[in-house]
Parts: sequence; structure tokens; C-alpha cells
Amino acid sequence: MTKLIDGKVISAQIKDEVKQWVEVLKKGGKEPALAVIQVGDDPASGVYVNNKKKACAYVGIRSLAYELPWETTEGELLALVDQLNNMAECSGILVQLPLPAHIDADKVIEAISPDKDVDGFHQRNAGALCVGRPGFVSCTPAGILQLLIRSGVEIAGKECVVVGRSNIVGKPTALLLLRENGTVTIAHSKTQNLKEVCRRADILIAAVGKPKFFNREYIKEGAVVIDVGIHRLEGGKLCGDVDFEDVKEICGAITPVPGGVGPMTIAMLMENCAKAVCETFS
Ligand code: GUN
Repeated sequence: MTKLIDGKVISAQIKDEVKQWVEVLKKGGKEPALAVIQVGDDPASGVYVNNKKKACAYVGIRSLAYELPWETTEGELLALVDQLNNMAECSGILVQLPLPAHIDADKVIEAISPDKDVDGFHQRNAGALCVGRPGFVSCTPAGILQLLIRSGVEIAGKECVVVGRSNIVGKPTALLLLRENGTVTIAHSKTQNLKEVCRRADILIAAVGKPKFFNREYIKEGAVVIDVGIHRLEGGKLCGDVDFEDVKEICGAITPVPGGVGPMTIAMLMENCAKAVCETFS
């Protein structure tokens, strides 16, 4: 029987753990506060930002909301980031992506103090993960790792195939799996014989951004499948990068969409926000 890896249940556990941790931190005089910056009114970003604020309220983290108009210039946004970098009571800064095309997102990310970069996108944090040093880990990859660990999936020595090479998901996920002693392959749009490569995977991470791209031809029997995609189909239903109905009989375990990786990203953001007020963390 295929096991369903339930991101709603696991993310709720993590949020409850963070909530308890935040209580302890506050008793010790450390109060985390997350600045959430949204530029423009992209509806999807609005939903994500709202969910982040709700999660902050649940775990007891103060959220500082900055809703800026689409016309905001790069200079204005950089000035706000600078102000928040220097604001003692703000311990975490998150700039919701995507930004309008007239703003260079890389420049903005690099302007965030790495000590407040709870998204884990800054070069210093990305580099720290690469060389095994403490730092903030990007939230979706950290969430994927927790889904695997808390579901009892063994990673050490296993064939892990990550399909997708983004800085936010693919690359850090591959590094985390490597840190857990997985045998890791990163596949991407130019990979030859993608089906064969995927069929080698004991653990397949699907992060290509194409609805229902992975069918049973990509899956080894008994494989653990983590679906990072989220797409809205005509008619309003959500689906992932994996054709769930087609593969569910073949794989050993799978994350649903919705209710798999999605809720984990926010739970790990809350964990990073708590870490941000601690002097040292790994
Ligand atoms: N847009 C989509 N996912 C994310 C995320 O994890 N962080 C930020 N800052 N923007 C996003």
C-alpha cells in the first residue's frame, strides 16, 4: 500500500514545537519579529504572505507587514531593507518573490543582512549550506528533508534524484540530501534519458514546475516521491508536478498536492525566525 506523506500533520507538529520554543525565547527576553515585504498585488503572493502572517500569529512571532505599491523603485525597496537591517527589534526579513521586473531580485536578496535572511537565499547562507557551516537553510528544501526524516525514510546510501536546479529548491535540496549521505543526482531540462535517470531513484524530488509531468514511466516501484509543484488547473483544482493518480499504485510513498510540501515551507520559515534570535545555530 502506498503511504501518503502528510505535510499538514508534520507541519503542524513543527509549528507546535516552534511555538513552545518561542515561549522559552520570550521568557529569556528574546522576541522574534519577522518583517514581510510584498511589492505589488499579485494574488498568489498575497495568499502566501497572508499564510506567513497567520503562522507567525500562531507560533507567537510578531509580524511587521510592509505592503508596497507595484511602482516602488529598487532604490526605495533597498532603503527599506537597509532600515530593517538596522532595526534591532526586527530579527527576520522576508521579501516575497517574484518582484516586479523593474527591480533586481538578486540585488535585493544580497542587501538583506545574512543574519536576518530567514529565507536562506543570501549567498552567505547558500554558501554555508554548500560547505557544511551553520546558516539559514532555504525553507522548502528544509521542509522536504523534515518530511522524509519524520516519515522514517532512510536517506543514507539511497539513490536520490532531484529534478530541477533552482537556487531556491533544486540545488539546496540536493545539498541537504548529500549531507544526509544520499547518493544524489541533479537532473534538469537538458538531462538525457530523464525517464531512465528518474527510474533509478529510491527518492525522487519533482521540482520542474510543469503540471502532472511525472507519470508512472518515471517511477521505480516502491520509490518515495516528493512533489514540490503546485499548479491550478482549469476548473480550479490544484495539482503538482506528479500525475498522482497515475503513479500512486507504483510508488512506496508520496506527498499529495495540496497538503504535502506546501505547508512545510511556512513551518520551516517559522523555525528559521526562531533561530534568528539565537546566537548560534546549525
Ligand atoms: N515566493 C515563492 N516562494 C517563496 C519563498 O519561499 N520565499 C519568498 N521570499 N518568496 C517566495
